[in-house]
Amino acid sequence: MHLPWCIRKCPYCDFNSHAAPESIPFEAYSRALIGDLDQQREQVAGRPLTSIYFGGGTPSLFPARYLERLLRAIEMRLATVADVEVTLEANPGTVEHDAFAAYRDAGVNRVSLGVQSFSDRCLRAIGRIHGRAEVEPAIESLRRAGLGNFNLDLMYGLPGQTPHGALRDLEQAVAAQPAHISWYQLTIEPNTLFAARPPRLPGEEALEAMHRDAGQLLADHGYDNYEISAWSRAGLRCRHNLNYWRYGDYLGIGAGAHGKVTHASRGRIYRYSCQRHPRAYLQGRWRAEQRELDGAERVFEYFLNRLRLRECFTPGDFAARTGLGWENVAHRVQRARQDGLLEVRRGGFRTTAFGRRFLNDAQAMFLP
Ligand SMILES: C[S@@+](CC[C@H](N)C(=O)[O-])C[C@H]1O[C@@H](n2cnc3c(N)ncnc32)[C@H](O)[C@@H]1O
Ligand code: SF4
Repeated sequence: MHLPWCIRKCPYCDFNSHAAPESIPFEAYSRALIGDLDQQREQVAGRPLTSIYFGGGTPSLFPARYLERLLRAIEMRLATVADVEVTLEANPGTVEHDAFAAYRDAGVNRVSLGVQSFSDRCLRAIGRIHGRAEVEPAIESLRRAGLGNFNLDLMYGLPGQTPHGALRDLEQAVAAQPAHISWYQLTIEPNTLFAARPPRLPGEEALEAMHRDAGQLLADHGYDNYEISAWSRAGLRCRHNLNYWRYGDYLGIGAGAHGKVTHASRGRIYRYSCQRHPRAYLQGRWRAEQRELDGAERVFEYFLNRLRLRECFTPGDFAARTGLGWENVAHRVQRARQDGLLEVRRGGFRTTAFGRRFLNDAQAMFLP
């Protein structure tokens, strides 16, 4: 569920997020989301809903009572499992004292906190609305609320950052004992302020050093690198994101949200997206486009996602997820093995360390 507003737009961000108007139309947007859900629910009738993700934008701008209303609306309409994972993305600059207790009472049981860095200099360089001083109280407040299952989002390769600085960030993240750490290399995306006026970023050698040392540090502290950018303590992987990476189905509700639904009996997979701009979305014009995926697209999308994971995939899983036979990809899998990008493990295949390092090359082998 996409909540598209932020206090202001960060210069590196290409997500569908918009600087918040003077007053965010919480009421009208919540109603629009429920209307959108009503249109979408039929296509997944009876299927279990295992996770809910409030992403953005900055969902923590929404008072807890709206999230509670949305969660109740979802539970009334979809077959929600008893232990459903409910994640809220939060920005340390927007969470007031004790806000997390209210979110917990509303039904949120996992929080993803956009820390990005513990260095005030780096946070300024990437235009964040918060400093380090807001991060620690936010983590403290999570803990007080009993929300121990939280993720910290960090980025590295920030303007002016040294390998030592990147490592310091991770040390401080680990000290907060999060269940999960997402560690992304800053990328310059087209149509962002950084693309127009690129900052000076660390060079290749520094990035290599950050990568090598970070992997060691996180592993030493018991974090498992189960996906290219994701690290978790035992049993605390993100169920919601795992579903994307395993090429599962999901509904996308809200401005600019994307969904993917498989109609297994008819052997069809559809992708659709919702109106990007909140204004259009609020007018009830929810659906922007929908299309069916052909075989070549299914192959590419499956591997685009699946190769990010460290767990193995099997021919049976490929067939179940895409509806296609293994013979469509066997020769390409074989070539990726010969190139050292894939390996055989316990009856399945997975990306090698070399393949993870050159992930784009591994994924490109499955392009249409
Ligand atoms: C959907 S964003 C939003 C989370 C939340 N709005 C925030 O910024 O605190 C999820 C995460 O993606 C990462 N991210 C966003 N833009 C990025 C970029 N250009 N390069 C690398 N990581 C990026 C950030 O770590 C961010 O927290
Ligand atoms: S707060 Fe997050 S979603 Fe909003 S502009 Fe910044 S990075 Fe993008």
